[in-house]
Amino acid sequence: PISRKKVTLQRLHALAEERIPITVITAYDYPTGLRSEKNDIDICLVGDSLAQVALGYDSTTRLTLDEMIHHCKAVSRGAKTPFLVADMPFGTYLGGVDATVRNAVRLVQEGGVEAVKMEGGPEIADIIARLTSLGIPVMSHVGLLPQRHTALSGYRVQGRDALTAYSVFKSAKVLQDAGAFAIVLEAIPHQLAGFITQALRIPTIGIGAGPSCSGQVLVHDDAVGVWSGHKAKFVRRFAEVGKGAGEGVASYAAAVRSGQFPDVVGESYGMDAGQWQEFQ
Ligand code: KIV
Ligand code: NA
Repeated sequence: PISRKKVTLQRLHALAEERIPITVITAYDYPTGLRSEKNDIDICLVGDSLAQVALGYDSTTRLTLDEMIHHCKAVSRGAKTPFLVADMPFGTYLGGVDATVRNAVRLVQEGGVEAVKMEGGPEIADIIARLTSLGIPVMSHVGLLPQRHTALSGYRVQGRDALTAYSVFKSAKVLQDAGAFAIVLEAIPHQLAGFITQALRIPTIGIGAGPSCSGQVLVHDDAVGVWSGHKAKFVRRFAEVGKGAGEGVASYAAAVRSGQFPDVVGESYGMDAGQWQEFQ
């Protein structure tokens, strides 16, 4: 039975406990937020993939807090039932605990989200602990960290050797202990993701982390086939909306140019013959 009740932290933990996979998808505006609402998504994430997917930047590091808030406002008008999380943009949680609290408060207060997500390991544990203690739930994110693509020399699978696998596992533990309510595992071997999921009390949300996580997340535009850029191995296209939309725009332009659109009867308004005569 589909629950139409507001998704809470308690509900998310119950899903994980019962081994019911948690569904997470990104959203960037009112229509995508509404789509997650109407299709009973558990967590709607205003990811900073917003930068590339909706704003055309070449990196998430270009996204500002004001831009993120602007989009959170639109998503929160559409996604009422899902638990609503926003990524803290690059740099907005790196300037100390107080500055981070101020930025997170803006996302909640102005953006209308319920929780924030941030990338990193033990180096941000104190920030996660502080936000959590103040009542702002934090989702953590380990493995491939897109905000650090420069330092990582690209977008690469993480934790493939025993040593780095251990460091991803250790990070996950520390973040749980700091108070994170869930953790995104991005682009790590499925065995490692399964191990971390077993070892933690909090739900794991995988993206490119195999089927053993407590839930899965995909970028909306990847999932529905709108995004025309690089397709990672872990992406499955569940629709081809981009193809259909492109064909629609092409047909529209062709119909206008050929004079075939609009139809004078079916797609235009008429005037009473008498009125028309009077007008002339
Ligand atoms: O920004 C994003 O879309 C994300 C998810 C894919 C986890 O961080
Ligand atoms: Na992100």
